[in-house]
Amino acid sequence: MPIEGSLTIKDIYQIMVGYQQSQIMYTACSLNVFDVLHKANDGMTSDVLANRIRSEPEAVDRLLNACVGIGLVDVHMDANGIATYSNTTATEMFLTNSSAMSIKTLCLMQGDFYKIWGRLSMAVKDGSCQMPLAIGTGCDMFEKGSGFHASEEKQYSFMQCMHMFSRMDSPHVVEAFDLSEFDTACDLGGNFFQDPLPRVDLFVLSHVIHDWNEEKINLLLSNVYKALRPGGALLLCEKMLQPLKDGPMNTLLFDIGMLLSSEGKERTTDEYRTLLLQNGFTDIQVKQLPEMCFRDVIMARK
Ligand SMILES: C[S@@+](CC[C@H](N)C(=O)[O-])C[C@H]1O[C@@H](n2cnc3c(N)ncnc32)[C@H](O)[C@@H]1O
Repeated sequence: MPIEGSLTIKDIYQIMVGYQQSQIMYTACSLNVFDVLHKANDGMTSDVLANRIRSEPEAVDRLLNACVGIGLVDVHMDANGIATYSNTTATEMFLTNSSAMSIKTLCLMQGDFYKIWGRLSMAVKDGSCQMPLAIGTGCDMFEKGSGFHASEEKQYSFMQCMHMFSRMDSPHVVEAFDLSEFDTACDLGGNFFQDPLPRVDLFVLSHVIHDWNEEKINLLLSNVYKALRPGGALLLCEKMLQPLKDGPMNTLLFDIGMLLSSEGKERTTDEYRTLLLQNGFTDIQVKQLPEMCFRDVIMARK
């Protein structure tokens, strides 16, 4: 008997095998299945697709059927029993190279993440980043030659993914607070731990604090505080964990991702508030963005 509010055995099974659907989508993306289907206006048989992507025909047929089952591909059977496959509207929009709304790059990054996540039990046992053993790079994900910057191609993919998250969130971020009083703003780049920071009215730290440990965060926040003009503000954009750390689900998954690949973590609003207060900031205001956003926004004053 299912207990109200509790997971069913079906739910447990779906969680158990969740990686399988993810791997089907990742494989179809990495073999450019959806881009080839995109170019065939009236759909394509699995044999023709197999030829285009230089893969084994029966295996391609089975991959396509699994994609149909998931809802990534539509199938149509003609009077002779020949099946042709085409992208669903969502696949066209989000998983093809040519769509302005595409998040295919993010899907392709899951190849490395899959290897890294495969070492989660090791990360939990000793609390350490798993990138060296999983993908053979160092643990500073932003260092040249390491992590997401292991090659120019990976760096470009990472930037595209950051851009994708920003594109979705920025209309909400810019409306979270009235910023019209600020004349000069700086979205931090360069080397923010070492370089002198410009004197501005508004600093923006977006998806930056969650990358670092407390020692580095305190260094960065104290430098930002010193560089801010009196009365100026810091806009801190991070998705905040709920007080009990029981959601939002995407942020909990990000937090495990941070454990596996960085020295950072996700935090609650109160944890961000404490970090800001201990570095001199006052008048801390929080704006929660809609759940689908990858950020909430905190404004803190000097
Ligand atoms: C998670 S990304 C967020 C990017 C962007 N702010 C956004 O919201 O999409 C973290 C950014 O911090 C930058 N970064 C890492 N270490 C840095 C450093 N020492 N100095 C300046 N930027 C750094 C990375 O290059 C990367 O662009």
